[in-house]
Amino acid sequence: MNPDANVERFDALANEWDNDPQRVFMAQKVARAMRNALAPAGTETALEFGAGTGLVTLIMARHLARVTALDASAGMLNVLRAKCAAKHLENVDVITGNVPQAMPANRYDLIYASMVLRHVADVPALLGVLFDHLAPNGRVALADLDTEDGSFHGAAKGVAHHGFDRATFATWLRDAGFAEPQFTTAHTVQRAADDGSMHEYPIFLAVARRS
Ligand SMILES: C[S@@+](CC[C@H](N)C(=O)[O-])C[C@H]1O[C@@H](n2cnc3c(N)ncnc32)[C@H](O)[C@@H]1O
Repeated sequence: MNPDANVERFDALANEWDNDPQRVFMAQKVARAMRNALAPAGTETALEFGAGTGLVTLIMARHLARVTALDASAGMLNVLRAKCAAKHLENVDVITGNVPQAMPANRYDLIYASMVLRHVADVPALLGVLFDHLAPNGRVALADLDTEDGSFHGAAKGVAHHGFDRATFATWLRDAGFAEPQFTTAHTVQRAADDGSMHEYPIFLAVARRS
């Protein structure tokens, strides 16, 4: 998979990304599931990778002390920056780059991501890197599609995984050192595939702790 294919695709989509009501609703559902599962006290520092235009970031940032929003696409992050400025949200720092290479040299109380892991070739290796960037007792919250038949993205390039099997994902989390992996269903997307047939695509939220 060519990582630049993702950057080009998301740079091109950036200005229209938030115009899709289903996408906005999905992000709201994922953010709500994250808040319910993590119950942040408001004192936590967090890293969100693949933050995109900030659909999840802007909700989560209101419940956290500070968020670093990282994304490979400068175009998506330009939209996020403009939204933070318009809403006078001052606790969001923005970094352009790819995980795992561009992970900041910090430790966080929380690391979260929504709909990003499918674009990452080696997810078990990334989970190990996330573990190393968490403070003791820190937690990850990772949302993505359950295993699907490839119809969710159609012909789009830059997709490394057609969703994930929860049991396999739990094993990857444990192998990376995480304890207590817990899964919930954050949302189910209902939409037509390229051939017109209706599909349901459940989105899981996996939460686990660095013990
Ligand atoms: C499907 S979008 C999701 C955006 C956002 N999380 C949301 O829920 O609206 C995937 C995002 O992940 C970013 N991305 C993909 N691979 C990445 C990587 N290896 N490192 C950082 N960002 C990445 C893309 O640029 C894009 O903004």
